[in-house]
This record gives sequence, structure tokens and C-alpha cells, in this order.
Amino acid sequence: MAAPLGPRANEGGGWPEQGGAGPGARRLATALLFLAAVALPCLVLYRAVAPGGVLVQPAARLPWLQAGAPPHDDDDVDLESDSEDVRLERVLRAAAMANDTVILTTLNSAWAEPGSMVDVFLESFRVGEHTRELLDHLVIVSLDLAAHRRCKQIHPHCLAVATEGVDFSGQKNFMTDGYLRMMWRRIDFLRQVLEKGYSFIFTDTDIVWLRSPLPRLYAEGDFQIACDHFTGDPDDVLGNAPNGGFAYARANTETVELYRYWYAARERHPGLHDQDVLNLIKADRYLAEVGVRIRFLSTEFFGGLCEPSRNLSAVCTMHANCCVGLRRKIADLTLILHDWRSFMSLRGPDKRSASWSVPRNCSLDKVEE
Ligand SMILES: *[C@@H]1O[C@H](CO)[C@@H](O)[C@H](O)[C@H]1NC(C)=O
Ligand SMILES: *[C@@H]1O[C@H](CO)[C@@H](O)[C@H](O)[C@H]1NC(C)=O
Ligand SMILES: *[C@@H]1O[C@H](CO)[C@@H](O)[C@H](O)[C@H]1NC(C)=O
Repeated sequence: MAAPLGPRANEGGGWPEQGGAGPGARRLATALLFLAAVALPCLVLYRAVAPGGVLVQPAARLPWLQAGAPPHDDDDVDLESDSEDVRLERVLRAAAMANDTVILTTLNSAWAEPGSMVDVFLESFRVGEHTRELLDHLVIVSLDLAAHRRCKQIHPHCLAVATEGVDFSGQKNFMTDGYLRMMWRRIDFLRQVLEKGYSFIFTDTDIVWLRSPLPRLYAEGDFQIACDHFTGDPDDVLGNAPNGGFAYARANTETVELYRYWYAARERHPGLHDQDVLNLIKADRYLAEVGVRIRFLSTEFFGGLCEPSRNLSAVCTMHANCCVGLRRKIADLTLILHDWRSFMSLRGPDKRSASWSVPRNCSLDKVEE
């Protein structure tokens, strides 16, 4: 029997949820109106003088440029003058570890605002044990211009990726058409990364990193994924309830095929979230034939609010899954960082009895934000 995905409500990393446009979105809308009225002629001028015969990529894949936003400063020129493929390669090369492994997360404007999710996420790397150096290998993949701009202010490895047919300037509500398209775009994007020969750890932005997960990945296993509920058996394909918010994929033909098959399966299951589709296809005979080795990560190391790691001496990551609402997620993740700091200040024997004070704000009940 396939495990039901009851507690699934992490709603993907960096994806907007309930509620109307945040102040960021409103600011962006205002900025776009202004730019459309005043600055569009500059864009035309800019395009005309694009440097030395460089092919100016049509802005078709970057809807916010079509919306009338010209390159704002030098930082944005790369969006305009290079193809997405070239930018992807450049960012991956700059961020990769010696063995061509990168850490990836995706971000939108609501989660990118000062004091919002991305700040808690980055803070965790700074207070975690030996996690600060992992920031050198983290690529923040932005799905709208406001998120990309914020990324450039706070992090060295930023990449803007767009989804055709989706207007990123507005909020996307959970499970709306635009939201689903962005979720699926992420799966397609991760396949591209693998095809370029880069292995990755994908992490949602509502996951705090307290220790390096690298030593806790299995030596065997092409695709390793965290769980809302872990049965105790890393090979229990049917019983484990995977959570796509945290996954490791080794770059090889098997994982490329897994992501291709997964992406294609969305057409057989219209209206479903990528994670639900993964749950439906994870035991397909085709994947066994491909030979991709799927393994499930223990919640002891890769915990969450659905099933917290009980051992603070072992935990690597904690995910605000089983939680609806951006503010609630931020509140409980902040509390986790507080618990963590207290834990780190304890001595030997006291450490063993340390525990979490979460979930406190988080729950699966719907909230108005
Ligand atoms: C990649 O390199 C890092 C850092 O040296 C190491 O911790 C990790 O285990 C390596 N990953 C693989 C899959 O070899
Ligand atoms: C907690 O994790 C530490 C480090 O991995 C381990 O040595 C210890 O035995 C674990 N404690 C329990 C109760 O499992
Ligand atoms: C979180 O819970 C505390 C205690 O119940 C409450 O005071 C606070 O307002 C809550 N915060 C959010 C964002 O829900």
C-alpha cells in the first residue's frame, strides 16, 4: 500500500502561500508601472547598444523583462545578455564543490523579503556546526525579479529562472495553476542540472541546516530523499512518505531518467503536486528497469515538524513541514534556532536531555495571512 501523504503541507520551498500580495509584490508592481511609463525607452536604447555583437537573448523566458523592467544596474545585465543555459553553467561552476556537487534552493519574492524565510535559512548555516562553509556551495535559484535582487544583496551565487506562461510579479497561491507550473519547473530545472554533470542537494528554504548533511548521505543511492514519515528502513519504497523538500541526486544517467520520467508523469496526473506524483511513481517497474537506486533518509538526521529528530546530537536539518502559513513557519524555525543555540551552550551530560520546543505555532490548520 502506498503511504498516504497526509501531513504533506510543506508546500514546497520558497513558494508563496495563502494571502494577498505582500508589500514586496506591491512595491514590485509599482516599480513595474513606473518603469513601463518612464524607463521603457531606456530598455530599447539598451538593447540597441548591447555590447560587441553579443547575441541578445530574447526575453521570452524572463517574463519580468517583458513586463517592461529594463536592466536596472550592472547586476541585471547578465539576465539580459546571456541565455539561461549559459548563466546556469556559470553559476554551477562557481558554486560547485571539488566533486561537482552543489546545494540548491528556490526562492520567490515573499520568502525573500528582509526578515522572512531566506534570512532564517541563511542564519542557520551561520549558527550550525561546520555549515558556514557550505554557503560557498549554495545556489539560490530565484523565480522572480524581486527575489533575484534580494539574493544578489545577501548571497554570492544567485540564478534567475523563469517559467514560460507564468507571471511572476504576483503572488501564487498554493495549488493554483501558476503555482503548480512553478513546482514542475523546478523538477525540470533539476534535471537540467544533472544533465550538466552536477550532483546536488536540493533543499527547501524552510529547512534549517544545523550540521552538514554530507556525512549522513548513504554511500549507495542515486536519489536520496527526506521523509515526512520514516519507517526505519531506507529501502522501504512503499512505506516511507518522501518529502521533496530535501533530496540528494547524484549526476548519472539513472537520475536524469528519473527526473525526466517524473516530469513527464505530471501529464498522467493533472492537477497533482510533484511530490504526490513521485509517491505514485516511486515503485513503478520502469524505474526499476532504469536501475535508479532510491533511498529514504532518516528523520533522526533529516527531521521536520511532522517527525522531529529526537537527537540534537545527531540532527542535520529540520524542516517546517506539517505547517501551513509563512509566518507560522518562520516563528517555529526561529524557535528551532533558539533551541539549537541553547543546546550548543550546554555541556556534555546536559546535551543528552536537550529537546525541541516545537511545534508551537505550526499546524496544518489553514490560516489567513
Ligand atoms: C563531495 O565533496 C564533499 C566535500 O569534500 C564531501 O563531503 C561529499 O561527501 C562529496 N560527495 C560525494 C558524493 O562524493
Ligand atoms: C544521538 O546521536 C549521537 C551522535 O550521532 C549518538 O552518539 C548517540 O548515541 C545518539 N543518542 C541516542 C539516544 O540515540
Ligand atoms: C506563536 O505563538 C505564540 C504563543 O502562542 C504567540 O504569542 C504568537 O503570536 C504566535 N505567532 C505567530 C506568528 O503565529
